[in-house]
Amino acid sequence: MCGIVGIVGNQPVAGRLVDALRRLEYRGYDSAGVATIHDGAMNRRRAKGKLFNLEKVLDDQPLDGAVGIAHTRWATHGVPNEDNAHPHFVEGVAVVHNGIIENFSELKDGLVADGATFTSQTDTEVVAQLIARHIRQGLDNRAAMLAALNEITGAYALVVMFRDDPGTIMAARFGPPLAVGFGRDEMFLGSDAIALSPFTNDIVYLVDGDCAIVHRTGAEIIDFAGNPVERPHQISQATAYMVDKGNHRHFMEKEIYEQPEVISHALSHYVDLASYSIRPDIAGIDFEHLKGLAISACGTAYLSGLVGKYWFERYARLPVEIDVASEFRYRELPLSKDQAALFISQSGETADTLASLRYCKDEGLSIGAVVNVSESTIAREADAVFPILAGPEIGVASTKAFTCQLAVLASLSIAAGRARGRITAEEEREMVRHLSEMPRIMSRVLNSIHDPIEQLSRELSKFRHVLYLGRGTSYPLALEGALKLKEISYIHAEGYAAGELKHGPIALIDETMPVIVIAPHDRFFEKTVSNMQEVAARGGKIIFITDEKGAAASKLETMATIVLPDVAEIIAPMVFSLPIQLLAYHTAVFMGTDVDQPRNLAKSVTVE
Ligand code: AGP
Repeated sequence: MCGIVGIVGNQPVAGRLVDALRRLEYRGYDSAGVATIHDGAMNRRRAKGKLFNLEKVLDDQPLDGAVGIAHTRWATHGVPNEDNAHPHFVEGVAVVHNGIIENFSELKDGLVADGATFTSQTDTEVVAQLIARHIRQGLDNRAAMLAALNEITGAYALVVMFRDDPGTIMAARFGPPLAVGFGRDEMFLGSDAIALSPFTNDIVYLVDGDCAIVHRTGAEIIDFAGNPVERPHQISQATAYMVDKGNHRHFMEKEIYEQPEVISHALSHYVDLASYSIRPDIAGIDFEHLKGLAISACGTAYLSGLVGKYWFERYARLPVEIDVASEFRYRELPLSKDQAALFISQSGETADTLASLRYCKDEGLSIGAVVNVSESTIAREADAVFPILAGPEIGVASTKAFTCQLAVLASLSIAAGRARGRITAEEEREMVRHLSEMPRIMSRVLNSIHDPIEQLSRELSKFRHVLYLGRGTSYPLALEGALKLKEISYIHAEGYAAGELKHGPIALIDETMPVIVIAPHDRFFEKTVSNMQEVAARGGKIIFITDEKGAAASKLETMATIVLPDVAEIIAPMVFSLPIQLLAYHTAVFMGTDVDQPRNLAKSVTVE
């Protein structure tokens, strides 16, 4: 939810801290701040809003100092303003924090009763106040840090600096990720390895309950009781892939058009294009003997899992129980060791999904993770990792990760079908051949539908409510189309199973509410056309997303018809994702919203 970074350096750090924040801005951008220590003084610059606001402040009032910490914020406690921006100072202690201190309220009451004066509404300031109080009571910085860590509860990644000790930064992790970077005569801390990639790729990931005492020459890692712990060094693959937008206006547009390329990367990891078969070495889950599969994720990742449910059940006859992660573990689902659990997450850090993973792990299930960040917490805690290889996805609205997740889930469901004797070798060859054609088909579709979609988006941006309908694997697409539209254009949109229209939503239909119908000419097509007739009979405006066969078969008058090529059912969800992504994108552009960083959202939700 927030991005944090720290440097104990041998040269001025303010500029590098801001550069690192720029690579973390996808985590949140309500406010940002930097603090350094120089000549015995601890100073900070903070600004509300995007990082360039902080850069302007630093241009006017530069910061010296070879040690510093910095933060880009997604507000949880306290409105996004300068007072609530991190770093928080209390006496000689400075703190930046990602996460939530769940018991901050009672701690704050105790501190205020002791005479503490708070200058912000944040939970983070409580940590700085606790440490400062322990120091006042005579503890040294290290003991004061550990004492505070044993008083707070919640999910947090913390980086702390002490005015009286400019050669040391302390950090702690319990929940959101935190990495220690080992440089030459300087050390780094960051929310992820991408932030540190220009400085070093020699990384140690802290785990829950770790506290790092970081000096210029290295780091000592201890537990919250002060006992030393060992953590392995990893050579991070993260690059300073400071994605630029190329010739696109937004990262989201670039990432939509990257899909053919990144899907071919993903497929190359899972399929053997010479024999049109799924690579035997990708399993990691013993699908043959499974009695059932649980899938849990959030947002768009959940919706790719919902498509996967249809595939696993149809092609592998494998029962799938799926739920959004925030509900999954509270249902007390009867789980058994002869089931497996699959967690889908672009960031690999989503708190709800991670908590559900840990719940299933405690129940003894084998754990699979479909992730875009192979070094993420979810990946590190899974038994089997299925990378989607989409490359960093910067746009907050997920696009290429969604279709790459689908490509991986399609591969896994075919592997499961083969393992369970439900798919013949010939059927496997046929399905994998269709998968292998997907990048080419998607390129063709992206080029052919751009103009009609842009024109349609201009019309759609005039409406305030939109309904999406689909059947079978087009039903999760209807949900995803609605999520995409609402989260970047702020137009209210709902996705529904087309068959449910007559059970309530049809009451909404009139000329003010366009209905977007996603319907390839598959086995549900005729039934979905009936639903469209129900809409048309009530004056509803229909936007029809179909294929050549579907366009030829339906004689209905529509507000617009987007025609895609006729494709095999196994790849229809990926191909039909393109018009719904582009429709949301161009509508948001016409609405003038911040497409890459929509209001109130963050790319990685690391709090529950
Ligand atoms: C996607 O467009 C959304 N921004 C959001 O729902 C996202 O899919 C969700 O937060 C899950 O994130 P994850 O894939 O990183 O776990």
